[in-house]
Amino acid sequence: MIQPNTKIIYINTPHNPTGLLMPPKVLQQVVALAASRGIIVFSDEVYRELEHDPNQRLPAACDIYEHAVSLGSMSKTYGLPGLRLGWLASRDVEIIRRCLEFKYYTTICSSAPSEFLSALALRHREKLVDRNLEIVRKNLPLLDSFIKRRSDLFEWVKPDSSPTDFVRFKPERGVLNFCEEVVRDCSVMLLPGTVYDQPQHIRFGFGRKNMPEALNQLDSYLSKNF
Ligand SMILES: Cc1ncc(COP(=O)(O)O)c(C=O)c1O
Repeated sequence: MIQPNTKIIYINTPHNPTGLLMPPKVLQQVVALAASRGIIVFSDEVYRELEHDPNQRLPAACDIYEHAVSLGSMSKTYGLPGLRLGWLASRDVEIIRRCLEFKYYTTICSSAPSEFLSALALRHREKLVDRNLEIVRKNLPLLDSFIKRRSDLFEWVKPDSSPTDFVRFKPERGVLNFCEEVVRDCSVMLLPGTVYDQPQHIRFGFGRKNMPEALNQLDSYLSKNF
């Protein structure tokens, strides 16, 4: 897909919605390909540190390629989306300079209270990551046994990072309509794959503590309707 005028390759790992990590070899190949043509790699790593097995963590793209930009956020791994803050990291000073210029063009500054709270949170990042990883690790087996139990309806590639996954919905029925009915009837919100142009898939999030309750409600809805 690279064209002569391609300036940036955008990647996202750990990946939303699949909850899967890019294999390390593929990341190396992407970087090598970009380096051979002087292309910037923009790497969305907002779910980094939420690998279910921390040994599988990939290097940040900005650490392995000087023309890479790594995107981080308070929203996901640290569970603080209300702060509305994230960051870009790159060793390419020119890229950072241009991003800063653009940011100053659109806004005079970030929220100072949010910056204060983000700095405070990042000083305790292990505590926040441990808390959020514990929720994810507790919920994943519950979701796994749910998918196995309802293998007549669903199948998946089990995620290895982050609190999202992308499940294939087997019935010949629109997922948008299914998800709308589920939220109306049992107050469980699923994300229809239609938002990602994947009309046979559904994203289940499993980053909340009330997952057992949500699965119970979904189970009873399904047993009444399928
Ligand atoms: C992969 C990915 N990148 C970036 C974002 C943006 O997150 P925020 O604007 O809350 O930092 C999201 C949010 O859903 C995401 O899933």
